[in-house]
Amino acid sequence: MKRFFSVNDVPNLDNLIKQARQLKQQPLAQQHLGKGKTIGLVFLNSSLRTRISTVKAAQNLGLESIVLNVTQDSWNWEFNDGTIMNGNTVEHIKDAARVLSTYCDIIGIRCFAGLQDKAEDTSEKVYMLFETYATVPVISLESATLHPLQSLADCISIAEHSAKNSFPKVVLSWAPHIKALPQAVANSFAQWMHKMPCELVVTHPEGYELDPKFTGNAAIEYNQQKALENADFVYVKNWSSFNNYGKILPVEEDWMLTNNKLRISNNAKIMHCLPVRRNLEVSDEVLDSANSLIYEQANNRTYAAQVVLQNILTHAT
Ligand code: CP
Repeated sequence: MKRFFSVNDVPNLDNLIKQARQLKQQPLAQQHLGKGKTIGLVFLNSSLRTRISTVKAAQNLGLESIVLNVTQDSWNWEFNDGTIMNGNTVEHIKDAARVLSTYCDIIGIRCFAGLQDKAEDTSEKVYMLFETYATVPVISLESATLHPLQSLADCISIAEHSAKNSFPKVVLSWAPHIKALPQAVANSFAQWMHKMPCELVVTHPEGYELDPKFTGNAAIEYNQQKALENADFVYVKNWSSFNNYGKILPVEEDWMLTNNKLRISNNAKIMHCLPVRRNLEVSDEVLDSANSLIYEQANNRTYAAQVVLQNILTHAT
């Protein structure tokens, strides 16, 4: 593995999940791999899990980590070529990427969708610019359209809770929110589920269709109750409209996930990437139930990051 932007950078997902589950048993066994090396973690947006789990993963591998919060600790970046930089931007992304590459052996970057310019977000302008100018391997800490480390952790969690050779029904269920959120987690989850042995159903109100590039041949169901029938895993997430780009559309029905709605499921395990708005997206009773995998998913973020870094350290640095 020389980069980590999407599931397409993973030659064999089944093997990667197996490796992650093995290193979870002995997380400090490969400390020599990162000795004398440094990972830079660049955040253009807030984070708890991605930041801490990737630092922890690096530490497990003997890698030093440096965290840069661009909007707080650094110069304002310019993303357009040829701009006369006489405004608020102080450093061009091309200079930042080249300079950081002299300090770091691997760089992770988080750059969310701005939700203002669909073409800019769908082309992954910021991530691709950074990767173009960096001279070391780059990994995504969530980009405009995808969140691969989250999805890998989700795959590990599903594998841990699936019977051998089973083909679970996995439902990705839209949830209400007060803010317009990117589609990255949902897109990415759908994309990775297509590489897992499972049946994927995506349920959301009309108008919240995701980019079909990611949902592919997954069944789209506008009736949440129907979607939840016999579900083995329910992944809850809000996203803003893709077609009416970045907008929150009026929704009359109650889409919050509750225990009552789950009665029809196959005693489903409940997943959410966190942070979650309790009693808006999912009820407390569901999040705090024995079927909730939210903390296991968060814990698996470390091993998802670690297996990716381990592969890059072995093959690309
Ligand atoms: N799930 C996730 O990526 O969490 P953070 O935004 O806190 O990193």
